[in-house]
Amino acid sequence: IKTLAIILAAGSGSRMQMEVPKQYLHLNGIPMMVYSLKTFEESCVDDIAVAVPEDDIEYVDKNIIKKYGISKVLYISKGGKSRYESVYNALLHPAVLKKKYDLVLIHDAARPAVSKNIIENSIKGGLKFKAYVPAVLSKDTVKIADENGFSRLTPDRKDIYCIQTPQAFSYELCKNAYRKLFEAGDFRGVTDDAAVIEKMTDIKVKLGYGEYTNIKVTTSEDVEIIEMFLKKYII
Ligand code: CTP
Ligand code: MG
Repeated sequence: IKTLAIILAAGSGSRMQMEVPKQYLHLNGIPMMVYSLKTFEESCVDDIAVAVPEDDIEYVDKNIIKKYGISKVLYISKGGKSRYESVYNALLHPAVLKKKYDLVLIHDAARPAVSKNIIENSIKGGLKFKAYVPAVLSKDTVKIADENGFSRLTPDRKDIYCIQTPQAFSYELCKNAYRKLFEAGDFRGVTDDAAVIEKMTDIKVKLGYGEYTNIKVTTSEDVEIIEMFLKKYII
């Protein structure tokens, strides 16, 4: 079984309202993206691809990958304007087209507290179901609003899951789904990779093992919480 992990770190972190994109933000003294890179490095994935803003490729190679000794990185690819463009560029990078992977795991560098347990479950789940995403039951009640901001619908909370990464897919299935997505050119509703599979294929996505600590650092409030969660990671 050959597995590729794509770590996405090509965003601008606009909702954090900070000077630097959040993937470089120091958490307990270490750049955010280093945490998930280390955890994947120590997992059983074979290769790692990293997507970063085009102008940062050399910087990341020297100051992140080499400095922190991430040896499984096969290539650094340039990010796109949107997350799905960053994924597409990484999936179709020349260095990867010659390789035959069975599985691809796609992970947000903005989830630095991803655990080995989640990665292992995603690998097993991806192999079994072809499309498998970590999920946790929503703790909040969720409401669907109408266009005027009134509640239109309150779905039963027992059916509501919050979706995390790494999401795992059969490699060919994922590549073909992304190719079709870009051929069709309709990106509505694509906020995660599973949505691409749902939109472009007949494969059903299995919701699997996630952890409440695997939060996505999105706004400045998340920084204190994630630093607490990351205390057990000694780098
Ligand atoms: N990402 C990416 N390429 C993009 C946009 C996002 O690789 N063009 C990555 C981010 O670096 C992050 C992950 O996708 O690790 C999840 O995206 P998000 O939390 O939205 O991060 P940002 O897009 O950077 O933040 P914001 O939406 O607040 O600008
Ligand atoms: Mg974003």
